[in-house]
Amino acid sequence: MAVTTAVAHPNVALVKYWGKQDKAGNLPATPNLSITLSTLSTQTSVRESAHDQLVLNDHEQQDLKVAAWLRQLRESYDIPPLHIETNNNFPTGAGLASSASGFAALITAINEHCALGHNPALCSDLARRGSASAARSIYGGFVALVPPQWQAQKLAPAEHWPLRVVVAVTSHLPKAVGSTEGMQRSRDTSAYYPAWVSGSGQDFEAAASAIEARNFQRLAEVSELNCLKMHSLMLTSVPTLSYWTPATLACMETVRELRRQGEGVFFSIDAGPQVKAICLPESQLQVAEQLRETPGVVEVISCELGEGARIVPS
Ligand code: DP6
Repeated sequence: MAVTTAVAHPNVALVKYWGKQDKAGNLPATPNLSITLSTLSTQTSVRESAHDQLVLNDHEQQDLKVAAWLRQLRESYDIPPLHIETNNNFPTGAGLASSASGFAALITAINEHCALGHNPALCSDLARRGSASAARSIYGGFVALVPPQWQAQKLAPAEHWPLRVVVAVTSHLPKAVGSTEGMQRSRDTSAYYPAWVSGSGQDFEAAASAIEARNFQRLAEVSELNCLKMHSLMLTSVPTLSYWTPATLACMETVRELRRQGEGVFFSIDAGPQVKAICLPESQLQVAEQLRETPGVVEVISCELGEGARIVPS
C-alpha cells in the first residue's frame, strides 16, 4: 500500500503570535516572524485506511484539533480516511512547537499523497488552519507570517545568517494550558492586550530589518523584549498563565550573564518552561555549556537553522 512521508521542523518566533482575529481561518491578530530549526523534527507518514487513525510516538491518539482540521479539509478536497503515523524526536506539547512541525509535516504528506498539487504558499495556508505557527514551518530559514494573505513568506534562507539555537529543556511534561486556549484567555482578559496588538507592527519591522542587516544586537533587543511582552500578557490573563518554572528563570539569568561577558546571545520562551537561546556561531559552545550547568536543566539541544517541510523516502 502506498505510503507518503514528510519531515518538518519546529520554529522559534522572534516576534510572537499570541492572539487571533475574530474571523474564520485561524488568522493571527498580529504579524509574526520566526526561524526554523534543524535537529528537532517531526516525521509523518500517511496511507489510506478504513477509518482515520492517528498514531503519535507509537501511541494511538484521539486528537480533536487534527480531527477538526481534517473535517475542514475534506469540505474542499477529496481526502480518503487516513492512517497517520507521526513521530517527534523531542518532547511533545511542552512548548517546543510540536504542533507547528506536526501540521506542517501532515499537510506536506497529504498534499503529495492525495495529489492536491499545492505550492508551499497554499500548503502554508492549510497548515495555518491547524495551527498558525505551523504555517511558518513550511519554509526554512527566516520566515514571516503577515497580512493580508496570512500565508507564510520566506524572508531569507538559512544561509543568509547562520545563527544557532541552543534549547534548554527544563521539563518533558506537556503544558497545562494549550496555546489556543491560552491566547483566547489573554485576548479576553489581559488589560495589556490592546498594547500588545498596537505595538506588534513596530516590533515586526524592527526585527525584519535587523535580520536583513544581520544586526545581532538589534535583533536581540527587539526579540527578547517582544517575548517578555507576550509573557506579560500571559501573566496578566485571568486566571493567570504562568509557563515559567524556577529553571526557566535560572536559564534567563544565565543568558543575561553570558551577554554581560560579551557573548552574542538572547533568549526566547514560548508557551512552556523551555528556554531557547539564540546565538552567534562563535558563542554556541559557551552558551550550551553554561545552560547545561544551570540548575533544573535536564537536556540541552543545539540546533542550526533548518529547512522547510519536505517529502522524504518512506
Ligand atoms: C507561543 O500556533 O500553537 O508558540 O494557532 O492556536 O494552534 P494555534 O496556536 P500555536 O501558537 C503558538 C504560540 C507561540 C508563539 C509563536 O509561535 O508565535
